[in-house]
Amino acid sequence: MARERASSRLVGILSTDIPARNRNSRRDTLSERVKKTSGEWFSHTLECIPSRQIISGRRRAHQSQHEMESMKKLSHMTRREFVTTSAAGLALGGLVHTSQASQSSDSAASRPSARGPFRVIIDTDPGVDDALALLLAMRSPELKIEGITAVAGNVPLELTLPNALRMVEIAGRTDIPVAAGAKSPLLRRLVTATYAHGENGLGGAVFPEPQRKPIPEPAAEFIRQIVRQYPGEITLLTIGPLTNVGAALNSDAELARMVRGLVMMGGSLSGGNITPAAEFNIYVDPEAARIVFQSGIPITMVGLDVTRKTSLTEEHVQTLEASKNPVSQAAATIGRNALNHNRERGFLVGPNMHDSLAVAGFLDPSILELQDYYVDVETTGELTAGETLGYSPNSGDLRRKPRPEKDSAPINMAIRGSAPTLAGTRTSSVLRENFVPNTKVAVGVDSAKFFDLLIGRLSGKH
Ligand code: BDR
Ligand code: CA
Repeated sequence: MARERASSRLVGILSTDIPARNRNSRRDTLSERVKKTSGEWFSHTLECIPSRQIISGRRRAHQSQHEMESMKKLSHMTRREFVTTSAAGLALGGLVHTSQASQSSDSAASRPSARGPFRVIIDTDPGVDDALALLLAMRSPELKIEGITAVAGNVPLELTLPNALRMVEIAGRTDIPVAAGAKSPLLRRLVTATYAHGENGLGGAVFPEPQRKPIPEPAAEFIRQIVRQYPGEITLLTIGPLTNVGAALNSDAELARMVRGLVMMGGSLSGGNITPAAEFNIYVDPEAARIVFQSGIPITMVGLDVTRKTSLTEEHVQTLEASKNPVSQAAATIGRNALNHNRERGFLVGPNMHDSLAVAGFLDPSILELQDYYVDVETTGELTAGETLGYSPNSGDLRRKPRPEKDSAPINMAIRGSAPTLAGTRTSSVLRENFVPNTKVAVGVDSAKFFDLLIGRLSGKH
């Protein structure tokens, strides 16, 4: 009975009771704006989609059968059950899928795991910390990586794409398809972070030109196809600006409810790193981020609040250097350069492993402490564009005494936009009629446990 009550409370928290009408109309408004304004970007993307179906007939037959069966399963679930299944699985890391990843034989990823594998797509802009996050993911038996999608961010796509291909080759995981994504954000010019990631995106670490080529589908289309192929099974691990995911959601109104969950490195409830208010990934494409936060996908936000507590140290790099496998050696080279870069610039601590923490938190949920928030993204503020605003009834003056469950129904409190102007006739816009959490925000981290996992997997120790 108590268990039933607890799980029904979980349902309440996780399902968030976002009225579908509300969710869709919000996204539509933004989607429409993005579609209208970014015609050029979309037509570029569409040009890249081959007119002929590129999946072979046999695979397609298998795919559509799988899709139909999964859709049947989904259609027997209420939205609430679906969200609960997805989010609870994410929170507990407990859903076991039967499919086995195709893995290279010498990697830790070839060993069976007690959990998973979970089907994931990794969206990334490598990027020093992206590179290590990708290597970690590819050595993790819990993951069945359906694909890696590159996006412009830390450096332009012309560099993030080959960098992603390089990591796949170094890890011996050329079985993983890599797709080229957006060259620029949905509505804005690209801002890069070469000041932190160097001109080549890997902090100056040089690796051979990749031999592998990307697949022909553009990233947004690839994401759409794979999510539809495995409805309810795919978790999106996003460690760059959210342009590819925003575009995929924009292109297919049904897609969001077929995504199992999304774990992002991005955002912050405690100030930014590119502006005082904004974290880099959200700042680069706030419109895409807003589409994602308003999509209804169960989101886990691993932001600066926790990633700032994960500094790479001399000792970590030495452990990587001592291990002779190619992944450890590559990670050591990247890590050594990043350490030197921080020292030269006078930083007192080593570089933060932002992106690896998001991946690690998915692999081992006990690394992170999560709290429910309603999160939305500021897109228009002159000082605050790209800020993630978190709103929680469990903090500050919104805290309430614990009450019997029947009384702790969702708070009947509207979430408002800015105050009305003198010139305007409208009152403050109501963004949400009721408080409803849409995101699990990481508010605490076990940094030692995280580095045990990261360095252990990269060095091949465990
Ligand atoms: C994020 O921004 C990028 O520079 C990093 O790769 C990470 O994804 C941290 O704010
Ligand atoms: Ca990144």
